[in-house]
Amino acid sequence: MEPHLRDPGRTAWALPCLLLLALPGVDAQARQGFTLQQPQLTQMVTAGEMLTLSCTTSGIAGPGPVMWLKGWGSGNKTVYNQNNENAFPRVRRAMRESDTDFTIRIVNIQPEDMGTYYCVKFVKGDTGDDEVFLRGNGTEVSVQAKPSPPLVSGPEQRERPGEPVPFTCTTGGFFPDKIEVKWFKNNNPVGAQPPQVKEWKMKTYNMSSTAVLTLQKDDVRSQLICEVKHSTLPAPLHGRYQLSKILRVPPSVEVRAEPSPVEVNKTVTFSCLVREFYPDKVSVSWLENGTEMKVQNVSLPRKLPQGLFELRSQVEVQAMEEKNRSTITCIVVHDAQAPVNSSALLWISNPTQGGLGSGFQMDKEDMLIYIVVGVVCTVLALLVAAILYLIRTKQIKAGKSSPSARLHEPEKSSEATTQESDPNNLTYADLNFEKERKSIRRMVEMSQQSEYACIQTNQAPNGDDNLTYADLDMVHLSKAPKRPAPRPEEAGSEYASVQITRK
Ligand SMILES: *[C@@H]1O[C@H](CO)[C@@H](O)[C@H](O)[C@H]1NC(C)=O
Ligand SMILES: *[C@@H]1O[C@H](CO)[C@@H](O)[C@H](O)[C@H]1NC(C)=O
Ligand SMILES: *[C@@H]1O[C@H](CO)[C@@H](O)[C@H](O)[C@H]1NC(C)=O
Ligand SMILES: *[C@@H]1O[C@H](CO)[C@@H](O)[C@H](O)[C@H]1NC(C)=O
Ligand SMILES: *[C@@H]1O[C@H](CO)[C@@H](O)[C@H](O)[C@H]1NC(C)=O
Ligand SMILES: *[C@@H]1O[C@H](CO)[C@@H](O)[C@H](O)[C@H]1NC(C)=O
Ligand SMILES: *[C@@H]1O[C@H](CO)[C@@H](O)[C@H](O)[C@H]1NC(C)=O
Repeated sequence: MEPHLRDPGRTAWALPCLLLLALPGVDAQARQGFTLQQPQLTQMVTAGEMLTLSCTTSGIAGPGPVMWLKGWGSGNKTVYNQNNENAFPRVRRAMRESDTDFTIRIVNIQPEDMGTYYCVKFVKGDTGDDEVFLRGNGTEVSVQAKPSPPLVSGPEQRERPGEPVPFTCTTGGFFPDKIEVKWFKNNNPVGAQPPQVKEWKMKTYNMSSTAVLTLQKDDVRSQLICEVKHSTLPAPLHGRYQLSKILRVPPSVEVRAEPSPVEVNKTVTFSCLVREFYPDKVSVSWLENGTEMKVQNVSLPRKLPQGLFELRSQVEVQAMEEKNRSTITCIVVHDAQAPVNSSALLWISNPTQGGLGSGFQMDKEDMLIYIVVGVVCTVLALLVAAILYLIRTKQIKAGKSSPSARLHEPEKSSEATTQESDPNNLTYADLNFEKERKSIRRMVEMSQQSEYACIQTNQAPNGDDNLTYADLDMVHLSKAPKRPAPRPEEAGSEYASVQITRK
């Protein structure tokens, strides 16, 4: 006060004011008569919506505005000022003309509007500035924020089936930070890492979730879905991604020639079949022995039921003799990828050979002929064998009625020089007593590699006592397997003993 008192002009002016304020009765009466009600302790609002803050007064206070402040102390912010209403475009009085109801409405609430709001009555202080006269208890406002519509992004370039491809789902600006993310391919769940949640701005969060998917050939019509659930959402939000955006199915390429082989001077059509590709961006060119050909007939890509495409290109070639074995190549460039090719040969049948032996088909026919011939030959051989067998059995029967002779086993004969008892060491000789049969028997039995000795009788046989012995100069008798035991001896059987000189 010392400096002021030295200035008499100023002191004279300030004195009545000081006197006025110094009257304690007036101040106390004003304060006691004035009340301010801020009934809402907390208020919850969703971002984008309107917030209503209630404040009513009663009684009379000194001159000065009612204001709304956000926060208290340092960092407070004036939200509404009765004396300067137009400065706050988002704020409106609920009762515009009222002197007691200072309820305000704030439109398009944002997460950053979160905080504690105070309704405050100011009065002009002794310095002429507005000073806080009375404030309400404050309303704590929390702002819930809905996540933005989820966005699914895929790789920059198209990917082939079988490749694992990462996809990312992002959403942001939500509060509180608790959020749930699920992935689906069509209706089937797809596994993913838990979402990464980061604070983006004050009181809002962003989320990113990644799922890795292996593409399939038939994914052209598939949809990848990112489902987001949040407390602010009445129903989950969905981000969708068509897999056709990043799928590339390379075509299979095949060249066919028809007819093949072709006759000289006829036309042969080469078809290039480009199958099951996606997208439909494809170009076809033809080469004949490495030289480009004029493309005559390219069909438009045809859409297959599963969403893939196929295409056919055709060229006709005159089958001039000198073009035999020319290579016709179809080159397919799909979606700016490396070219894929397929070739076929121009196969001209040789008219002098009647087309036989030229081309793969003729080889097949040849094979068939060989098979047929083989089968016929086998059947014939079997027939011959059967006939031979029949003839033989007949002759054996016939031989039994003839006066052929059984030969004894060496160990049973006392005259036999061989003393060995080996049963395999049996010696047989067929003796034929009739000259005219000799040759026939020998002929047939030759095949058995048997050795025969023919013994001629000097006189007519007439009994067991009267055996005829023959000395064999050259004894070379095979050891034949044991023959079936002879039937009861026939009366007319002749026996002969053969002596073998051992070397
Ligand atoms: C404000 O808070 C005080 C205590 O802190 C309480 O007594 C009073 O009733 C409150 N006023 C209102 C309007 O809620
Ligand atoms: C509001 O903040 C200003 C400084 O920015 C300060 O001077 C004033 O006293 C504060 N008011 C209240 C009520 O805290
Ligand atoms: C957070 O999400 C919002 C809304 O989706 C978006 O605009 C913003 O760019 C995101 N910020 C970051 C850092 O991802
Ligand atoms: C094929 O055509 C050429 C020329 O056009 C001709 O000289 C040749 O005799 C023809 N050959 C046959 C087998 O028709
Ligand atoms: C192209 O080929 C198709 C059969 O694949 C045929 O129907 C059509 O007539 C051909 N067009 C031309 C111009 O040769
Ligand atoms: C056909 O493709 C093969 C590789 O698959 C390549 O080596 C060859 O050069 C191609 N032929 C032509 C005519 O482009
Ligand atoms: C074409 O070539 C094939 C295989 O080399 C041959 O068999 C055929 O006789 C040839 N045709 C002509 C007309 O020369």
